[in-house]
Amino acid sequence: MRVAIVGCGGQGHVHAAAYSQIEGVQVVGCCDVLADRANKLANELGAQAFYDYKVMLETLQPDIVSVCTLEGQHSEPTIEALRAGAHVLCEKMLSANLEEAKAMLETAREVGKILATQFNYRHIPSIQWLKSLLEDGSIGKPLLVTLMTHGYCHHHGIDLLRFLFGEIVAVQATLRGDRSEVPYRGFETGISEDLLYIPSQAMGAVLHFEEGFVGVLASSIKHRLDDFMLELHLLTDKGRIALRRMKQANICGELDTNLDLEKAPQFPNPLPFVSTFAPSIHAFVAAVKGEPATIATGEDGLKAMEIEHAIVIAHRTERKVEIA
Ligand SMILES: NC(=O)c1ccc[n+]([C@@H]2O[C@H](COP(=O)([O-])OP(=O)(O)OC[C@H]3O[C@@H](n4cnc5c(N)ncnc54)[C@H](O)[C@@H]3O)[C@@H](O)[C@H]2O)c1
Repeated sequence: MRVAIVGCGGQGHVHAAAYSQIEGVQVVGCCDVLADRANKLANELGAQAFYDYKVMLETLQPDIVSVCTLEGQHSEPTIEALRAGAHVLCEKMLSANLEEAKAMLETAREVGKILATQFNYRHIPSIQWLKSLLEDGSIGKPLLVTLMTHGYCHHHGIDLLRFLFGEIVAVQATLRGDRSEVPYRGFETGISEDLLYIPSQAMGAVLHFEEGFVGVLASSIKHRLDDFMLELHLLTDKGRIALRRMKQANICGELDTNLDLEKAPQFPNPLPFVSTFAPSIHAFVAAVKGEPATIATGEDGLKAMEIEHAIVIAHRTERKVEIA
């Protein structure tokens, strides 16, 4: 399986390294508009360097393309790669606005290729552990879930809540602060003002789940990222369970519960955050091969954006916003 990377910055390196670990998968092309970056990554991998992704797609006809540019630069390479016959793994957030994201999904459907969103937090072992307990019913029925996130992890948080607890059908929300306080270059690539993406000082949202229970999502850029990424508290009809202080040094967090988990699988060992990237990329390759795998689809990427949009509208209108 031949892979091409578009965007050879931080995530381009992460994706390339993960593909390179898989037997039968080879990174054959690395493209960046900054020649130095494309050359460096290509040299490391013994791949060919390109400075225009259209030339790379035409020359190499890859089976898989990873789109690792910033948000405002996701849609065009994704659509072109799908049209060139590749399956695409696109970094989150799927796109800079809802219209582009829908066009990306529409193209994937037209050409019959997989479009996936890189929501690697689904591969945090303690999240997978919690999901298995929710699915086998051993910890009871959810009544209330609260998730506190660092602003940079908020978008992943929305995906995690859907992954664990199902569809979010309405939101109420309040925001404090604005984008000018968020040190993220991606906003310079033109992310819609109607999407929240990285909350500033404070974001508090009440989430209404399809299953009838309530969630609370609270996020702030003012946390220290080295100290705090996520913390999840779940109350069920049997008791409470929390994954406390999930952070870069130990993304699994610390288990705190009053439930009897003697028969449950053992809680995962501490793991650094960076180790969540490779399993997510390996799962994408498995999905391309037609094997069962946990991936976030393009639809999941769009859904997270629709919830972001609903949070912004709920704040602006001071109303509960239904999500179609
Ligand atoms: N999943 C995660 O946990 C996670 C973590 C960090 C970043 N990200 C996401 O990854 C994406 C990339 O982030 P990054 O930190 O690697 O950014 P980066 O700025 O380090 O790299 C982006 C690269 O894309 C290149 N580029 C821009 N336009 C291009 C084009 N048309 N063709 C080829 N190359 C082009 C830039 O020159 C740059 O080298 C973003 O969407 C970001 O949100 C995800």
